[in-house]
Amino acid sequence: MKLKCAVAGLGTNGAMHYAQLKQMDSVDIVAVSDPRLDELSDHVDLSGVEHTFTDYDALLGYGDFEAIFIFTPSGQHIEHIRKAAAAKKHIFCEKPLGKDESIEECEATLDFVRQQGVKLQIGFNRRFDPQFRDIHERVKAGEIGRPHIVRVVARDPFVLPYDFIRNSGGLIQDFAAHDFDMVSYQAGSRITEIYLQGTTLIDPGLAELNDIDTLTASCKLEKDGFGLIDESRKAVYGYDQRVEVFGEKGMLKAENVTESTVELYNDEAISLRKPLDYYLNRFKQAYIFEKASFIDSVVNDKPIVCTGEEALNAMRCCIAAQRSLDTGLPVKVSYE
Ligand SMILES: NC(=O)c1ccc[n+]([C@@H]2O[C@H](COP(=O)([O-])OP(=O)(O)OC[C@H]3O[C@@H](n4cnc5c(N)ncnc54)[C@H](O)[C@@H]3O)[C@@H](O)[C@H]2O)c1
Repeated sequence: MKLKCAVAGLGTNGAMHYAQLKQMDSVDIVAVSDPRLDELSDHVDLSGVEHTFTDYDALLGYGDFEAIFIFTPSGQHIEHIRKAAAAKKHIFCEKPLGKDESIEECEATLDFVRQQGVKLQIGFNRRFDPQFRDIHERVKAGEIGRPHIVRVVARDPFVLPYDFIRNSGGLIQDFAAHDFDMVSYQAGSRITEIYLQGTTLIDPGLAELNDIDTLTASCKLEKDGFGLIDESRKAVYGYDQRVEVFGEKGMLKAENVTESTVELYNDEAISLRKPLDYYLNRFKQAYIFEKASFIDSVVNDKPIVCTGEEALNAMRCCIAAQRSLDTGLPVKVSYE
């Protein structure tokens, strides 16, 4: 039996998820919604989808599906989660959980989701990346003993368009949220304090959007130990995504993934292929695995792997990180 699903939001990220869902045997996409449906129909194949809407409420009003995938802009996630829960739909929503909402508002939404008895997964896809997941499993299995330092390198290949950045929540909410989540996930511990420094080394124009393009964050962990994050909006050699966990008995490390492992040796140098070009390729498998995990949780009533509560923790980290950037001081992450 296929899970009857709807999809809301078919932009850059939603179109990728939608194409993957269409390839999955376990789901049947019966309805979609996006206010820009007319523009999108050129590059999104809507054939076989019986019900299309330009309005999210109309999609929920139709309602003949069990689960919804939400890929709408970050500023609408909380509203869309709340409405989907009210309609008793199981929910997969892209990260972040919320953007401008307060922690209390997000907590109230998560309480409501629980009361409605529906499942909610947030799209911290990197947890499902085979390399990063392997590190996680092996840290858990004790292969490197107690983790001491988790290091995350996350560098984009180019600066995103201002129009997207303006509504994204900026480098901290849009990018670093992934990395705070990754540090906690790998260390098996919440982050208790963050000292974040950031600036514009690449595009000074970002300062007008109140944003930065380069940051480093030093994180203190609840279970002792540290997280170290470095991020850039532009690495000239491509999409650079690496994770390392150093512990008492050794180190686990995931290097970049390349199209080919063939190395060229000549009289000038030894060269490797560049990393996979962008998130849509680099994390392609992770995006498939996270949706498969959600579908499995719904169909077989299993626990969700990346919960709303964990996404809320990432939000708490972003708030502390922003305060640290603004004050120039280390800031405690509040879990009260
Ligand atoms: N996990 C990841 O790696 C990752 C990567 C990229 C983006 N994202 C997240 O995905 C979300 C979307 O990002 P994007 O890059 O696709 O943005 P986008 O602007 O390209 O697409 C958003 C789409 O949502 C549509 N939309 C707007 N309001 C809507 C509504 N009320 N109902 C239905 N659709 C609506 C827009 O018309 C647009 O097509 C963001 O929250 C972003 O943080 C996550």
